[in-house]
Amino acid sequence: MSSSVDTKKVLGTPLKINGVVIKNRIILGPMAVLRPTGEGRPSGQTIAFLTRRARGGVGLIIVGGSVCSDRGWNESPFTPLLRFDREDFVEDIKRLTDAVHECGTPLFAQLFPSFGRMGVPRNGVSILAASPKSVRLGSGGLPPNIYVPGGHISPLPEEADVAQIKALQDRVVEAAGRVKRAGFDGVEIGAHMCYFYSSFLSPLSNKRTDEYGGSAESRARILRDLVAAIREEVGPDYPIGLRMSVNDHMPGGQGPEGFAEVAAHIVPAGLDFISLSEGNYESMRDNVPSVSGTMLAHGEPQAFRRAVGKDVRLFLSSTPNPTQAATAINDGHVEASMLARQMLADPDYASKVLEGREHEIVWCDHANSCLRGLILNAPVTCHKNREMGQEDPSAQRPKPLQKIGVWAAGNRFVMGAIDVIAGIVQRNR
Ligand SMILES: Cc1cc2nc3c(=O)[nH]c(=O)nc-3n(C[C@H](O)[C@H](O)[C@H](O)COP(=O)(O)O)c2cc1C
Ligand code: SF4
Repeated sequence: MSSSVDTKKVLGTPLKINGVVIKNRIILGPMAVLRPTGEGRPSGQTIAFLTRRARGGVGLIIVGGSVCSDRGWNESPFTPLLRFDREDFVEDIKRLTDAVHECGTPLFAQLFPSFGRMGVPRNGVSILAASPKSVRLGSGGLPPNIYVPGGHISPLPEEADVAQIKALQDRVVEAAGRVKRAGFDGVEIGAHMCYFYSSFLSPLSNKRTDEYGGSAESRARILRDLVAAIREEVGPDYPIGLRMSVNDHMPGGQGPEGFAEVAAHIVPAGLDFISLSEGNYESMRDNVPSVSGTMLAHGEPQAFRRAVGKDVRLFLSSTPNPTQAATAINDGHVEASMLARQMLADPDYASKVLEGREHEIVWCDHANSCLRGLILNAPVTCHKNREMGQEDPSAQRPKPLQKIGVWAAGNRFVMGAIDVIAGIVQRNR
């Protein structure tokens, strides 16, 4: 690691991502905190949240909390989400992209199936994944202040057949064309956590014996085909990225070298960047770490760099310490730092870092009350930043019962008592 680095200079250097130049290396990561309308259109709050962060100086915004297929809309565990699968929403989405562009900031759309092993079966339709393998949420892998009394085992998904894989590909490609027409400057395919595409990447969740399972090359096939099809749809200059898991962090799971090997098979199809994502729902403690720089300490960006070379932009996660992020860029491990919770706590983080006002940064405490709001489908708020969730003053506030739920879900005594009661109920069944 370099001994000293000019943080402001490194993080303030523009970055070219295919046909788009971003003005600095600090990226707002995708978060389902946008409070779109119940129909899935951007609301005043959606626009106010994003423009507030654009004015706070980030170089790029990746818009998450979205779905790009009907199935995603029906089966997502989280609501409400933005819909990128509806042609009649294009004008509304354009209002969002215009507003962010007026602040001088480009934005990419996350194309996220939002279903898969973490999907919720609705309307009598089974959930789908690479292979029938449930997600087990338990106390072991959970981050601080998140409790799941009694643990949770998701329903068993069905193995997706080739026709279903191709049909989803068509939906995602259509969504890519649609968001491009609606003014987005690039797209990021979501293949992380325990959703549909990520279930193909690791041998832990992919037990298939057909052309989509087995070797790293075969496990990469679904995304290689998808990237190639999106490339045809959007043209050569349009940035296409992939958000992918980099480490299962599970016994018997796949480590960074294995994931990086899969990535290396996808890149030639036309990938411009990879957003590195730690762990998944079963190892959520690693996905939302409590200290800065864990990804670098685990050697994950380094493994990806070795596997995919210098032409693919790598986005580091969960490294709010500006010196650590700048050093990682300076050392050539990654090209940019993508942040989520820190951007809830302080929308001006980027400006403060780039103007040498680090002492003014409001630091995220990693106590995860925002995540509890997400899990309970309540409006997400941040106790370090009262404005968060109310960037549009008319935005819906959490209802009193939702506030109590968010508090209780983070209280180990309340959750411990529920855990005991759940155990007694189960034993007496
Ligand atoms: C409230 C909340 C909502 C999130 N929603 C999304 C999402 O829609 N898509 C996504 O890829 N990641 C989502 N994430 C994960 C973050 O993008 C990020 O990977 C994670 O918080 C770790 O980064 P951090 O340490 O900078 O917070 C969400 C995280 C939070 C806290
Ligand atoms: S609620 Fe806590 S963990 Fe979430 S962004 Fe705010 S300070 Fe960070």
